Amino acid sequence: MVPILLLLLSPALAWIPVEDWESGNVTASVGDAGQCLCHVYLPETSFPADRVQHMQQVSKDLILEVEIQMNKMTSYEGMLEVYLKDLLDLTVRVAMLESSPDNYIKLDFELLRIELREFEALVSQLKGSLNSSSPLFDSLYTEIRNMTLIVNQLETYDKSNLEVIRIEFAKLQKKLEECQKEQEIIKPDIGNCNHTGILSISKPTVVQLNAHLAASYQYGGWGKDSKPVRGYESMYFYGAYSSANVYDFYLYTNYEKLILRSAFKQHDIPNGWVGTGNNYIVHGNTIYYQKNSPFSMSKLNLTSSRYDYRVIPAASEKFSYSYSASQNMDFSADENGLWVLYASEGNKGKIVVAKIDEKSFGVEEEWNTGAFKQLAGNAFMACGVMYATRSVDLNTEEIYYAFDTKTNQEKHLSISFPKFQEKYTNLHYNPTDQKLYMYNSGYYVSYSVRFNKQ
Ligand SMILES: *[C@@H]1O[C@H](CO)[C@@H](O)[C@H](O)[C@H]1NC(C)=O
Ligand SMILES: *[C@@H]1O[C@H](CO)[C@@H](O)[C@H](O)[C@H]1NC(C)=O
Ligand SMILES: *[C@@H]1O[C@H](CO)[C@@H](O)[C@H](O)[C@H]1NC(C)=O
Ligand SMILES: *[C@@H]1O[C@H](CO)[C@@H](O)[C@H](O)[C@H]1NC(C)=O
Ligand SMILES: *[C@@H]1O[C@H](CO)[C@@H](O)[C@H](O)[C@H]1NC(C)=O
Repeated sequence: MVPILLLLLSPALAWIPVEDWESGNVTASVGDAGQCLCHVYLPETSFPADRVQHMQQVSKDLILEVEIQMNKMTSYEGMLEVYLKDLLDLTVRVAMLESSPDNYIKLDFELLRIELREFEALVSQLKGSLNSSSPLFDSLYTEIRNMTLIVNQLETYDKSNLEVIRIEFAKLQKKLEECQKEQEIIKPDIGNCNHTGILSISKPTVVQLNAHLAASYQYGGWGKDSKPVRGYESMYFYGAYSSANVYDFYLYTNYEKLILRSAFKQHDIPNGWVGTGNNYIVHGNTIYYQKNSPFSMSKLNLTSSRYDYRVIPAASEKFSYSYSASQNMDFSADENGLWVLYASEGNKGKIVVAKIDEKSFGVEEEWNTGAFKQLAGNAFMACGVMYATRSVDLNTEEIYYAFDTKTNQEKHLSISFPKFQEKYTNLHYNPTDQKLYMYNSGYYVSYSVRFNKQ
């Protein structure tokens, strides 16, 4: 049995753009900060007190389950497969209903109703995240609503009605399969830099408290490998602590494992290799981070578990980003490879962009930008352009500056995007999914980047 409950889509858990929708006794809307607000009114008579108590007990598991379900909508790969599996599961259960004793039937119908509501929310959010106006989605809505009506109308649970539901589920399943084929065509131009830079940043698509479940772990980072080795394409990394120091990294085989806090590997950084600043990334199955002593860029090769470091004499320890201390070296990876951003005294505290040669682990080329490091909240590279951010207000951040390493030209911009908490310690772009990953005062947050293709 799959425990799925729409009524647990609380604003704190899910922050996914969703079109306003309404059906029966479920309403949802988008709140001021872009969070999904969801209200579910269940008919009292259908929910006996003993079940309510049970629901409370399992609510933690359900919250987790819903979070997983929510994320499935934001990832392009494989999400519909999961729905199909759930749906198949429902279909099997509907078939089982036909042979089960009458007293179990009411309970199962209630679950069916709830799960249908969830399917509707999933389709709605899927539509929003793909920004598709495909008639397939509209047709899916119709199917789901029709099915909800049928289930609701079933006052007497006779076998002919059950047969109707079974047929309807099979139809719905077929629609989802078509939808899955369609979404393969909608995939964005991953790796394509034929554009004039960032056009906009989406609303935050994931909000989840860190794997330590500790709000005090304000300093950290999370994300995916920007150049994964074979077999590790779905891997996520995470690290956090209550100070700016970096002591360990956790690796998860995929998003579900990240949410379930079930790491396949934990690297405790040995003495002498402890890091700081939290502007690390994973690139080519290697973690790049800032090392304390000697002050240098450091890497942990996850394939060989070997550490290495390089001092960059020009990089200064005096300048950090505005939200956290010790953020002197900021690692970044884009369509063009690996970079490190730091301020130098030679460039008067302004950010220097350095391209790293992965083989030698040395700086290949450097560019002086005009962005004062201490004024910036963070910075990242995308298609060879450095973007710097700063605060607009407590809940809004903006990209205010861009420096193109191809043309040596700088540009002032104002591309704003909402944030969940005021401060964050790690913001980087990932070219494999064109997303920004932010560690926002203990929360995992991500955004989709839209480029200006003119
Ligand atoms: C919503 O639930 C109430 C009982 O709580 C019921 O009277 C009403 O008909 C329901 N509305 C819809 C649209 O199902
Ligand atoms: C969705 O696409 C339409 C046109 O295709 C565009 O006008 C709209 O801004 C897009 N919305 C988002 C959130 O990308
Ligand atoms: C809705 O369900 C009814 C059965 O109650 C069926 O006859 C009808 O064709 C369905 N409509 C759609 C659009 O699927
Ligand atoms: C880049 O995009 C422009 C406009 O979309 C197009 O005309 C041009 O052919 C593209 N260039 C390449 C190399 O794909
Ligand atoms: C990591 O180690 C593996 C195995 O020794 C090696 O093939 C790879 O080149 C190393 N990568 C980096 C970035 O050091």
